Amino acid sequence: LNNGLALTPQMGWNSWNFFACNITEDLIRETADALVSTGLADLGYVYVNIDDCWSAAIRNSKGQLVPDPKTFPSGIKALADYVHGKGLKLGIYGDAGVFTCQVRPGSLFHETDDAQLFARWGVDYLKYDNCFNLGIDPKKRYPPMCDALNATGRTVFYSLCEWGVEDPALWARGVGNSWRTTDDINDTWASMTTLADINNKWASYAGPGGWNDPDMLEVGNGGMTYQEYRAHFSIWALMKAPLLIGCDVRNMTDETFKILSNKEVISINQDSLGVQGRKVQVAGEANCQQVWAGPLSGNRLAVALWNRCSKAATITAQWEALGLESSTSVAVRDLWQHKVVEEKAVVAFSAKVDSHDCRMYIFTPKAGAHSEI
Ligand code: GLA
Repeated sequence: LNNGLALTPQMGWNSWNFFACNITEDLIRETADALVSTGLADLGYVYVNIDDCWSAAIRNSKGQLVPDPKTFPSGIKALADYVHGKGLKLGIYGDAGVFTCQVRPGSLFHETDDAQLFARWGVDYLKYDNCFNLGIDPKKRYPPMCDALNATGRTVFYSLCEWGVEDPALWARGVGNSWRTTDDINDTWASMTTLADINNKWASYAGPGGWNDPDMLEVGNGGMTYQEYRAHFSIWALMKAPLLIGCDVRNMTDETFKILSNKEVISINQDSLGVQGRKVQVAGEANCQQVWAGPLSGNRLAVALWNRCSKAATITAQWEALGLESSTSVAVRDLWQHKVVEEKAVVAFSAKVDSHDCRMYIFTPKAGAHSEI
């Protein structure tokens, strides 16, 4: 969507993956505080997004949405002011149907009023879900909210949560700043790898202004190992997926923080070229030894060696798969070890990767050489 936003994928936090409906205005304020005090905000995590369950069960007598008086007694405007005071942005959640997924009022047929209200509150981001949609074509339900937001005069990031049902990558570029390509993530290796593979199919449709969204991060929620979360974060970064933290940032372990705060991996996600990296090479049993890669600005490449096998494996990225001439000399920097591991690799690059772990690199070909990936 050409609204000046999403030149790189959005970064921030969202309440759903960890808190589901257990949300309050205090939690949102404390999360904003924690994003700032941990330094995550300075790394780019600026959207503080409230998901489902912020709203009361019914509209008021004027037909307006109202925040749940028990959990958000001060209202959304006060929260937006607080979040803005910290230099952050506030996101809210709505639904392109008659109810949200947790059966709060939906915005279908209320687009203009609700968009105006969100804008008056100072909302910066809308995640727009797909429940209770009366079977109406999403191509008819998502654009009205885009137009309504646009008409408010406030610039609002518009995130389509259509779950990939009607292949939104094919039509959503002019409608939203990101579109879900998948069903909901859960905090397991099986879910994470499945969503990565689905999202991969739509790589060519992503770019500045509009991104494929394989759903939010589970890093730090406990269902995967350190290696698996590191792989999750690396591949999401490389796929130019939104980096929306889904854990309790008030109580992160050092390991969780180390993953989420890796500046070099974040820089892959936020690279100005804005091209989604893809799966470019597979080997091993059930194709479990994988190379994912994509171009970066400055003629560089992002390369991930992802071991989805049950045992450690040596994975080799062939120059051919990376679109490089076999004689090209490449400097290889490891983004988890934070050092150059080879000055002049040619033809191929190999590394031993633990089971379910992922290594991530920037490849810088010698001056003049470039990749056709
Ligand atoms: C859907 C969405 C999730 C979350 C829940 C909230 O399942 O896909 O991301 O927003 O609704 O109810």
